[in-house]
Amino acid sequence: MHSLFSTRTIEPTGIWKGPESEITSDPGQILEALRILEKPCFILNYQDQIAVTSSGKIYPLNEKETGISVLANLRSQSPENFGTPGFLTHHGVKFPYMAGSMANAISNESLVTALGNAGMLASFGAGGVSPDRLLKGINTIKTQLPDGPYAFNLIHSPNEPLLEQKAVDLYLENQIQTIEASAFLRLTPTVVEFRVAGLSQADGKEYAA
Ligand SMILES: Cc1cc2nc3c(=O)[nH]c(=O)nc-3n(C[C@H](O)[C@H](O)[C@H](O)COP(=O)(O)O)c2cc1C
Repeated sequence: MHSLFSTRTIEPTGIWKGPESEITSDPGQILEALRILEKPCFILNYQDQIAVTSSGKIYPLNEKETGISVLANLRSQSPENFGTPGFLTHHGVKFPYMAGSMANAISNESLVTALGNAGMLASFGAGGVSPDRLLKGINTIKTQLPDGPYAFNLIHSPNEPLLEQKAVDLYLENQIQTIEASAFLRLTPTVVEFRVAGLSQADGKEYAA
């Protein structure tokens, strides 16, 4: 096989141990192995040829260890593993993805709950909707996803400051934890009010706004 890569020019990064019957240097099987994103893929120097396997384990390079040299190590790349794990725990989601708001409740209760049930965060498109319509969305989503995940949009409305304030009032009254703040060119009292709600002083006293 003509190869662009030579096992001799790549420094080993570790030692692989496992069943040698699971190692392949067949180009078709290498391609196949690289396409399985859910499993790790270890690139090995096996009998002076580039080979791959998803079995076995990798150990750090060590003078005492003997085994097959690891040239590269591709971690499992399933959708759950993209992004930062902190996003998953913080938002209680399975996948580190968020569907942004679409105004006028285009991203409505059905979308937010469907994605929430699938383990993804979606934001209700609160921009341009009346307070009554927003409250309906809040009630429905909280009923259908009592433990989340969900978010609501807080869109800056410079021409209708009362609408922006009303949205924050509804979010705080209904214990909405996650908002997607959009279109703010600078901080406004409304967005700050949402952010500092529940802040307490070091002595435990509630922060008085
Ligand atoms: C029809 C439509 C309405 C949108 N409305 C809002 C909105 O009200 N607030 C907001 O923050 N983003 C809004 N967006 C932006 C989306 O939330 C999203 O950030 C954007 O579409 C980029 O994602 P994409 O590349 O997957 O489309 C809207 C997008 C679309 C297509």
